[in-house]
Amino acid sequence: MSYVSNLESNPDSTTESTSAAATTKPKLPVTLSTLNKLKANGETFSCLTCYDASFAAAMQVAAIDTILIGDSLGMVVQGQTSTLPVTIADMVYHTQNVARANSHALILCDLPFMSVATLERALDASQAVMQAGAHVVKIEGGAELAEIVSVLANNGVPTCVHLGLTPQSVNVFGGYKVQGKTDAQAEKLMADCQAVVEAGAAILLLECVPAELAKKVRDTFPVPVIGIGAGVECDGQVLVMHDMLGVYTRKPAKFVKDFLTDEHNETKDITGAFKAYHKAVKDRTFPTPAHSF
Ligand code: KIV
Repeated sequence: MSYVSNLESNPDSTTESTSAAATTKPKLPVTLSTLNKLKANGETFSCLTCYDASFAAAMQVAAIDTILIGDSLGMVVQGQTSTLPVTIADMVYHTQNVARANSHALILCDLPFMSVATLERALDASQAVMQAGAHVVKIEGGAELAEIVSVLANNGVPTCVHLGLTPQSVNVFGGYKVQGKTDAQAEKLMADCQAVVEAGAAILLLECVPAELAKKVRDTFPVPVIGIGAGVECDGQVLVMHDMLGVYTRKPAKFVKDFLTDEHNETKDITGAFKAYHKAVKDRTFPTPAHSF
């Protein structure tokens, strides 16, 4: 992927072995059954957020297993202070851009703030992002989502339910804080997982919960569990792409690691960072206890 790539190429370019265009090979698409098999075999999978075609192509070269078009785009792409201003139209636009450039990863797409407030809204939003190229919709919440999860599943829409720190509820939490630290909070999280899994959720995503609790969720429920700030014992790991490339203006969260400058990034470029991240997740060398709660 490059702008006007049919022009004479830049003689200073050293990207021949790492550019997406130079090394893209067809790879089998990752599906939900791939993730279920990985879980059954005790293997992990990688996930990164992505919002455009160029990075999506580089992620294909690096064999990233799953891509999330996160509503974090509100912050890292649009410069908003939270995910709340992101619209369904924004999610559709970025999902289309990513889906055009990556035929390997399973594509998850966030349904933005208030789009699951009613069943009707959830169905309309899901239709829009699935038709844009998503394979799974991600929704934030707990047991209250059970009916929506079930109706979506009956309409051919798999769901990933995001629990723990759910950024769309930042105004309820009063800030971005670790969740599930008390026994009561941990019990509620387990009950929420139970309700949405029984309703048909295909994936759980845990953000900022103690590593021990995330392991309990992974061991208890049959569906793949993706973690961010949830310890190494999850079935998959996700990071926001800008964070793992060291592109931030404020101090990053504890769970972030910069893979652009990582010693295992052999080519010291962006595709190398994606490859180093993928390998670290597969080897379970990331996250370490220093990235966990
Ligand atoms: O929007 C997003 O990028 C997310 C991840 C932080 C999991 O929800």
